[in-house]
Amino acid sequence: MNRESTMTRLRVNGQSFPVAADPARRLSDLLREDLGLRGIKVGCDAGDCGACTVLLDGAPVCACLTPMAQAEGHEIRTVEGLRGAALDALQTAFLRHGAAQCGICTPGMLMAATALLSEVPEPTEDQAREALGGVLCRCTGYGRIIAAVCDAGRALAGPRPAAGQAVGAAIERLDGVPKVDGTEVFGADHWPQDALVVRAVRSPHFAARFGFGDLDAWSGARGVQVFTAADLPGENRFGVIPPFADQPALAEREVRLRGEAVAIVVGEAGVMAALDLVDFPVDWEEIEPVMNPDTALGARPVQAGRADNVLIRGRVVQGDAAAGLAGAAHVAEVEARTSFVEHAYIEPEAGVAWLEGDILAIQACTQAPVMDRDGVAKVLGLAPEKVRIIPSAAGGGFGSKLDLSLQPLIGLAALKTGRPCRMVYSRSESMQSTTKRHPAHMRARIGADAQGRICGMEFDGTFDTGAYASWGPTVANRVPVHASGPYRTPNYRAETVAMHTNGPVAGAFRGFGVPQAAVAQEVAYDDLAEALGMDRLAFRRLNALEEGEASVCGQVMRGVGIGACLDALRPRWRAAQADAAEFNAAHSGVKRGIGVASCWYGCGNTALPNPSTVRAGITREGGLRLHQGATDIGQGANTVIAQIFADALGAAVEDIALIGPDTALTPDCGKTSASRQTVVTGKAALLAGQALRAQILARTNRAAEARIGLGPGKVVVTDAQGCAEIALADLPEAGHGYVLMAEETYDPPTVALDGNGQGAPYAVYGYGAHLAEVEVDLALGTVKVARITAAHDLGRVVNPLLARGQIEGGIAQGLGMALMEEYVPGRTENLHDYLIPTTGDMPEVEAIFIEVPDPEGPMGAKGLGEHVLIPTAPAILNAIRDASGVRITHIPALPHRVRAAIREAGR
Ligand code: FES
Repeated sequence: MNRESTMTRLRVNGQSFPVAADPARRLSDLLREDLGLRGIKVGCDAGDCGACTVLLDGAPVCACLTPMAQAEGHEIRTVEGLRGAALDALQTAFLRHGAAQCGICTPGMLMAATALLSEVPEPTEDQAREALGGVLCRCTGYGRIIAAVCDAGRALAGPRPAAGQAVGAAIERLDGVPKVDGTEVFGADHWPQDALVVRAVRSPHFAARFGFGDLDAWSGARGVQVFTAADLPGENRFGVIPPFADQPALAEREVRLRGEAVAIVVGEAGVMAALDLVDFPVDWEEIEPVMNPDTALGARPVQAGRADNVLIRGRVVQGDAAAGLAGAAHVAEVEARTSFVEHAYIEPEAGVAWLEGDILAIQACTQAPVMDRDGVAKVLGLAPEKVRIIPSAAGGGFGSKLDLSLQPLIGLAALKTGRPCRMVYSRSESMQSTTKRHPAHMRARIGADAQGRICGMEFDGTFDTGAYASWGPTVANRVPVHASGPYRTPNYRAETVAMHTNGPVAGAFRGFGVPQAAVAQEVAYDDLAEALGMDRLAFRRLNALEEGEASVCGQVMRGVGIGACLDALRPRWRAAQADAAEFNAAHSGVKRGIGVASCWYGCGNTALPNPSTVRAGITREGGLRLHQGATDIGQGANTVIAQIFADALGAAVEDIALIGPDTALTPDCGKTSASRQTVVTGKAALLAGQALRAQILARTNRAAEARIGLGPGKVVVTDAQGCAEIALADLPEAGHGYVLMAEETYDPPTVALDGNGQGAPYAVYGYGAHLAEVEVDLALGTVKVARITAAHDLGRVVNPLLARGQIEGGIAQGLGMALMEEYVPGRTENLHDYLIPTTGDMPEVEAIFIEVPDPEGPMGAKGLGEHVLIPTAPAILNAIRDASGVRITHIPALPHRVRAAIREAGR
C-alpha cells in the first residue's frame, strides 16, 4: 500500500502543531521524533508494555499502536502536559511513595493513573490495580505505584532531615523529579541534530557460517554505509571478565547465537526508517546447534579452538560430605531445573556516540561505565582515555546492562562516519541478543541427624552459559559458596560447571545463580522437616548460622542476621497456618498453603578486588559536590550514597550537588552489580565525608560533634561554642577545582579461595527470609500468590522508602521466576509471549526490616539488591507443596506442570 505523507495538525497538551506525516505512522514515533516529546517511552512497539501510554480525549491508549491519522482531531495529552508551574499532586505522590525507581515506566503509569483519577478522584486499590494493568513495571512490584495513585490527593512531604540525620530517613530519591516530569534522559532520549541512525543485521540462526555478498552495491543503492567486523580497528573480543573475553562485537564468519550481529548499517534517519534489511546481502550456512547443556560435553565445541564446551568449573568442599550424609538420620534428594529468564527491563538498549575532538563519547544505558570504556577502547583500538562513557539514565538493568551491547557498534559508526550516531534496539533484538539468567540443572542431597541438625550436603549444578562467557565464571564460582543457604553445614561439597551452548548468552541477573541454587536447597529442607516431623520454620531456625560460626568456606561470619529474619516471620507463620487451615476446611477445589525460604548473599565480587573511589569537594563559591560514579539503575544509589556521605560530613543532604557518573568527571565506582554499591561505594563515600570533615574541623578547631553548613563563599561550623567560618576565597586550590577536597578509595577485604573454596570470599553478607501464602487451583494447576512477608537484614536501613521498593520489586521478579517466566529462544522474543508480572499478579507484601549491624559495612549497612529475589521462588514452591501436596522442582511452575504433578500424585 502506498502511504502518502500529508500535512495536518495535531492538538497536543493544549497546543496545535503542524505535522507532516504518514497517516499510518506510529503516534509515539511522531511525538518523540518530530515534536520532541521524549517523555513518551517506547518499550516494545507492540502494545505490550504500556510505556508509551498517552491520553486521547482523556482515555489511555498505547501511542505505539495508534496511527497518526487516528489521533487527528483529538486532544492528545502526554506526561509533558501534566506539569504546570509545579508538579501535580499525582507526580508528587509518586515521589513521596517511591513509586518511580528506574522511571522508564513512570510516564505511562502517570498517564494511565491520570485517566483513572479524572473519573474516580479517590480510587480503591483494586480500581488502581485494574486501571494500571496495561502498563508494565519491572522494578517496583507495583505496590508503591498503587499506593501513590490512591494517595494522590494528600499533602506534600515534610522537610528533609537535618544535617547529620540523613541515614535512616525515608527521604524521597534525590534524582526523582525528572523521572516523574518526563525530562529524564534515557538511552533513546538524546541525540545531536545531525545524528545518523544505526541498525544491526542479525543472525536468524542459532549457529551458522556466513558470508557477505556485494555490500558496496547494496549500500550504494540505498544511500547508506555498511560496516562489518573487518572494519573494527581493535581486538574484536569483549567480555566482563578480561581473561574470559570471547565475544565479538560483530561476528566473524560464524554466528553462535540467534540475534548475533554480523554487520551494522548507518544512514540518515529518514532513509533508515524506510530501510528494509530483508534483502541485506548475507548468505547463511546453518550448523546443527548445541542447545542442551547436559549433553554439551560430548558435542561439537561452540567456540572454535576449544577442546570441549566447558567454560569453567566451580567447587567448595568442607569436611566430608559423603560421610556426613552416610551418618544422617534423614537424607533429602532433589533434582531441580530452572529456565532462561529474561531481564525484561522496559527500556531496550539505546544510546548515541559522537566525537569530542579525538575523544569518542558514548552516552548509553549501562551499569558499568568504566568497564564499558575499557571494552569499547579495546574493540575500537583506542586508548581508554580516548573513550568517554556518559551513562544515560538506565530504564532497568538487573545485570544485563553490565555487558557491552550497542556501545562498540555506535562507537564504530561514529569513528567511521565522523558524525554522531544513535541506535535503539527493538524489543526482539534486545531479547535475542542480550544476556539471560542461567538455566540450571541441579542435584542436591542434604542430610540431617535425628535432632534435625544438618550434617551433610552435596550439590551438583550444570549451568547453561550460552555462546559466550559473560558472567558464567562468576555464576560458577558464586553458586558453590552459597548453595548451602545461610545454614550451618559442617560437611559440604558443591560443584558446578558452566557449559557453552548455542543458546542466548547467560550472564548476570540479580543473584548470579544463587536464586537457582536456593530452589534445590530450600525444597530439600522442606523434605527434611517433613521427614523429621518438625515445623519447617523451626527446622530452619535450628540450623541458621549464628554469629561467629563458620560458613562452608570456613569464613567466620560477623553481623549474622538470618536468625533474626526467621524469628520475625514467626507471628505471621502462625497466623498464616491458622488462616490456611480455616480456608482449606471450607474449600475443596482450591487449597491454600504456606512456604518459607531463606537467603544469604555476599556483597560484591567473589574474593577479587572490588574498589570504589569517591571524590568530594567544596568550591570557592561554597558549593558542595559529590562525585558519585555508581550508576543508579533505579535501586537508589544516587540517594543512599549521598545520605551516607552527608552524615559522614555532618552536612545536610540538600547541600550536596551530585556529579556523574561520567568517566570524564567521576572516579571509578565500579559496576552496579552484586549488591555492592551501598556497601562498597557507600563506604568510600563515608571515608570521603569523614576526610573532608576532618579537614574542616582542623581548620576551625571545632569539636567532633559540630554541624557543617555551607553559605556563599564560606563553610560554617557550629557546635556548643558557637559558629566558626572558613572563608573559602582565602584558600588555595586543593585539586580538581576545589579549595577543600577529599578522595577516598575502599576495597572490601577478602581472602582468596583455595582449591577447595576455603577463604573469605566477601567482606559483607546480607540475609533474608520470605513467607509465601498461595492458593492452588487443583483442577487447573494455577497458583495465586496472596501474600509475601519478607524479613530482610540490611544491617542499617539507610533509606526505608527505597529499601521497601527494592524488596517489593525483587519479590515481583522472584514471583515471575517461580510461576511464569521462561525464555525460549526463537519463541518468546517479545513481551506478549514472554510474560512478566502485572499489577494483577502481585500479592500483598509486608516488608520487615532487621538491623544486625555489619562491622565492615558503612554505618553497619549491608547490600539488599540481590537478596530480595532469592527466597521468593523457593518459598512459593514450598507453599504450593503445602497447598497441593506436590513438590514442584522445575520452574517456572506453569499451570500445566503443576496440574501434571497433581495428577501424577493422584490428587
Ligand atoms: Fe517501573 Fe523501572 S520503575 S520499570
